[in-house]
Amino acid sequence: MMHKRKKVAVIGAGFVGSTAAHWAAQKELGDVVLLDINEGAAKGKALDLFEASPVELFDSRVIGTANYADIEGADVVILTAGLPRKPGMSRDDLLSTNAKIVKECCLGIKKYAPNSVVIVVSNPLDAMAFVAKETLGFPPNRIIGMAGVLDGARMRSFIAEELNVSVKDVNAFVLGGHGDTMVPMPRHCSVGGVPLTEMLSAEKIEAINTRTRNGGAEIVGLLKTGSAYYAPSASAVQMTEAILKDQNRILPCAAFLQGEYGVKGLFIGVLCRLNGNGMDKVIELKLNETERKGLDHSIKAVQELVDALKKLEF
Ligand code: NAI
Ligand code: 2OP
Repeated sequence: MMHKRKKVAVIGAGFVGSTAAHWAAQKELGDVVLLDINEGAAKGKALDLFEASPVELFDSRVIGTANYADIEGADVVILTAGLPRKPGMSRDDLLSTNAKIVKECCLGIKKYAPNSVVIVVSNPLDAMAFVAKETLGFPPNRIIGMAGVLDGARMRSFIAEELNVSVKDVNAFVLGGHGDTMVPMPRHCSVGGVPLTEMLSAEKIEAINTRTRNGGAEIVGLLKTGSAYYAPSASAVQMTEAILKDQNRILPCAAFLQGEYGVKGLFIGVLCRLNGNGMDKVIELKLNETERKGLDHSIKAVQELVDALKKLEF
């Protein structure tokens, strides 16, 4: 009897892409194809990772390539190609540069992996997910933006550190766009099942919310030459695992909304159920006034980004 392994394609073999390939291969989620326009980087990192497999004892074949034909039949594609913002570059410069890159990658994905679920990581996230949707033309359940798992993980780390408890016992998530306007949801956080609001003062919770919103910038400030990649890649791979193993996980993701929270046609971070269908369902929450205001503000910021995108050539 023939058994076919799952296949994960990672587009972009930079920091996030190569680390995602590492987590995915080590977890034996399937065979991994790492693709980059820089063929040597993709091939070199893939070969190096494959050569780690006899030591770490994982049976995932890892290959590197610059050729989209090699991603043929991929079940999940993690899209990380894109440039980071450089000094002197405006937000619109980055928007248009990365939109071109994401579009080019999506044309390759559409041709060779038309049945895949695509997890978009490239920034600015909510706008790049929109570009992916426009280019791929896939149904909304098969295009998902990664941001909430990362931002939620940052929040969970800070809560665990503050309370000196295991990260395993902390549940927390954020809603909204991946940027300064994201909305941490402390009212829905729990520690060992106990509401966070019963464990920490309002001041401490607000400090954690602020640090969460600035989580990406905090890492950039330390690294100076790049942005975060361990937690972002782990987050994209958690989403990949939920899909490949049909886990029905409840995770915050940027989903293409079709009326939820009064939004139509934008990718916004919301709580989702992830399974073999990809983004199977949006779980719409009853928000209080502060949360609703915060989310509306964030939706407006994403709308402005997408409006700016639509004015650009890409
Ligand atoms: P990086 O610069 O290390 O890697 C980017 C890779 O993309 C490079 O290897 C480059 O050669 C490749 N690339 C550029 N144009 C390409 C094309 N047309 N086709 C194929 N590959 C191409 O950057 P890093 O740190 O890996 O970040 C990647 C992206 O992910 C950035 O846009 C970053 O802002 C974003 N990001 C998003 C996060 C999120 O939460 N959504 C978190 C962390 C990073
Ligand atoms: C982050 O949040 C840069 O979006 C990236 O770390």
